[in-house]
Amino acid sequence: MSDSSSAPSDSALFSLPKAELHLHIEGTLEPDLVFELAGRNGVSLPFASVDDLRSKYEFSDLQSFLDLYYATMDVLRTEDDFAELTRRYLAKAASQGVRHVELFFDPQAHTTRGVRLETVVDGIGAALDEAERDLDISSGIILSFLRDRPAEDAEATLMAGLSRSERIIAVGLDSAEVGNPPGLFEDVFARARDEGLRAVAHAGEEGPPEYIIEALDLLQVERIDHGIRAIEDPALVARLAAESIPLTVCPLSNVRLRAVPVLADHPILRLDAAGVAVTVNSDDPAYFGGYVGDNFVALRDALGLTADDAARFARTSITASFASDDRKTALLAELDAWRG
Ligand code: HPA
Ligand code: ZN
Repeated sequence: MSDSSSAPSDSALFSLPKAELHLHIEGTLEPDLVFELAGRNGVSLPFASVDDLRSKYEFSDLQSFLDLYYATMDVLRTEDDFAELTRRYLAKAASQGVRHVELFFDPQAHTTRGVRLETVVDGIGAALDEAERDLDISSGIILSFLRDRPAEDAEATLMAGLSRSERIIAVGLDSAEVGNPPGLFEDVFARARDEGLRAVAHAGEEGPPEYIIEALDLLQVERIDHGIRAIEDPALVARLAAESIPLTVCPLSNVRLRAVPVLADHPILRLDAAGVAVTVNSDDPAYFGGYVGDNFVALRDALGLTADDAARFARTSITASFASDDRKTALLAELDAWRG
């Protein structure tokens, strides 16, 4: 990199060493893989073709996306399917500068249709091991509870997850937000923390700023996923800054799910200017028009993100990760080399 205050090129933003902290592995399921796996597993699809499926990627809100997201993942059946899904994501991520990833999976979206949690974790884990060896990408898996299902289901899911505790670094909370406040999951998060797991939660994507406060106070999370509606509450913004609570922001997702009308209105730079630790992530890249590097490029185009901004957000992604101190030090050195 040379001039740190000028517009960074696409290739500079792609090569920027970064951690991705908000990525649903099921949200990396591209239409061509949907059809490939449907053929392999004998699943009949309610879509005529890859193009027909792609034409459905128009969303009016979070729920309209979730309906398609849960429908397409029905093609994921075997350990190999999950390994292949994860492999394809990692190849793409590597090409866009991802050096460490903490990915979510939604066990309940699989166990409820007869796919065991162990099948999912072992498949994802095999691909993560390959990436560690072949691509030098480090990683962790976050077990995410579906907040639109009862807390007792989350408890059972946690118990099942503990059979793969060596693989799972944290618990998360996702799915339909409004009407399903974090506080419903206080006990299961406490149990997870007692088991030594870290905690994060989606809050303030569609839900109000109060849900972010609940996630902090009742779930004791270390990061907030999305968190963009904090911008509506100046006292909360001040708290996030004072307590150094990172937000895993997903700009293209927010526009595609209409949490933000257009990218030019996105609050990420206002949150950053207020001292909040923000990171840039892709959420469900197969559905939202881009992987993490594409999200950086879109922010440059819509908001004038500079090389300094990009490097600051990448630095935060590394320091806010659950990677070891040694790994963080190594990645921060790569980031310094990028800055030149
Ligand atoms: N929000 C909530 N739940 C989700 C999302 C999201 O963006 N992606 C996958 N599950
Ligand atoms: Zn998400």
